[in-house]
Amino acid sequence: MEEGKQGKHSSGKRDSFTAAVVGVRGYTGAEIVKILKNHPRLKRLKLFSTEVEDLIQESIPSFRKILDDKIEILSYDKVSDCDVVFLCLEQAQAHKIVASLIEKGVTPFIVDLSPDFRFKDIKKYKEIYKFDHAIPSLLSSVSYGISELWKEEIKNSAIVANPGCYSNAFLLAVSPLISVARDKIQDFIIDAKSGVTGAGRKALPHLTYGYLSENMKVYAWVEHRHVPEIEEKLKEKFGIEKNILFTAQLIPSKRGILETIWVRFSSDVSGMKNEIFDAYEKFSQQNFFFDFWGEEFPDLYSVVGTNFIRVGVRLHKNYAMIVSVIDNLIKGASGQAVQNMNVKFGFSETEGLENLPPHFL
Ligand SMILES: NC(=O)c1ccc[n+]([C@@H]2O[C@H](COP(=O)([O-])OP(=O)(O)OC[C@H]3O[C@@H](n4cnc5c(N)ncnc54)[C@H](OP(=O)(O)O)[C@@H]3O)[C@@H](O)[C@H]2O)c1
Repeated sequence: MEEGKQGKHSSGKRDSFTAAVVGVRGYTGAEIVKILKNHPRLKRLKLFSTEVEDLIQESIPSFRKILDDKIEILSYDKVSDCDVVFLCLEQAQAHKIVASLIEKGVTPFIVDLSPDFRFKDIKKYKEIYKFDHAIPSLLSSVSYGISELWKEEIKNSAIVANPGCYSNAFLLAVSPLISVARDKIQDFIIDAKSGVTGAGRKALPHLTYGYLSENMKVYAWVEHRHVPEIEEKLKEKFGIEKNILFTAQLIPSKRGILETIWVRFSSDVSGMKNEIFDAYEKFSQQNFFFDFWGEEFPDLYSVVGTNFIRVGVRLHKNYAMIVSVIDNLIKGASGQAVQNMNVKFGFSETEGLENLPPHFL
């Protein structure tokens, strides 16, 4: 595949769009359909699945009567020209679909929710995800997809690699801090907790109701695949290389990520409180979906159902503790993907996303 072909289709601004969602039975695929269905600029939506027969009836019955005549359901071999294609697949699938689209001369804007385009470093795909990349020559032109931090790159790229959910909750939460205290930061210790949908829709023993209800489990220690992603992006965006200690726990909730991030500094930062909090306030004002709570720590329910990331920060001697919460399926995946499309197509960044209702009890 020639690099030029994909690069050619990076024209941005438009008034409306047609979209394809590939892998629609999965959690992130279904969530994108929900969001796009109410996007005011949507003209037509094509849904692609390995299971076309009775897709709604059998696999996503909660969509009955919701999907209307703007929507078609097709098999993967019919993925064809649309303004934007959202790939919502298991790892090591999306890169093959993109390669075959380009072979066919079809070059839509692509937002890949899987890890297939996240690394610039080609070796990482084999090391971490155990596959050989089909189109390594394109990787340097792919933008990482956190709209608040990679906006100009997204506007100028034909492929956007949506971030891992833990990576997104971390990188956004520390970005204002890095802007004012980068030289003092020694390590980041990330204690992450995720609801069960973070693992996808597959039926695995540790994801059953019987096992997980009223239970918690540490499932990753130090070596989680989002750690090398975080390391690469800290270097790419902020030019820093830091020690990252990471642990992930499964909690008995359906959705949501809560990260408790400890930052260790080389000296006492309590005197920098105003400067640090001003940086967070400014970032919050510049970015609608970033909500700074000052010294109050946000909870999961404040974000579940929405595209918001909410962040609280406290300083103690040479430590900061940051709490970052997102809905893993929205800001951690499908909402972020639509936000990236909005940026690319020159729509308001919040279109189709600002009215998603939070869950609260
Ligand atoms: N879940 C999250 O919180 C999250 C957050 C950020 C990124 N991601 C990434 O996004 C990608 C998709 O994640 P996901 O959570 O949506 O995965 P998922 O729920 O496991 O779905 C993945 C794919 O499995 C296929 N599938 C096959 N049999 C299925 C069945 N019986 N029911 C449902 N789907 C079935 C679906 O495609 P067909 O419709 O074609 O069968 C779907 O695209 C992954 O690469 C993941 O790493 C996930």
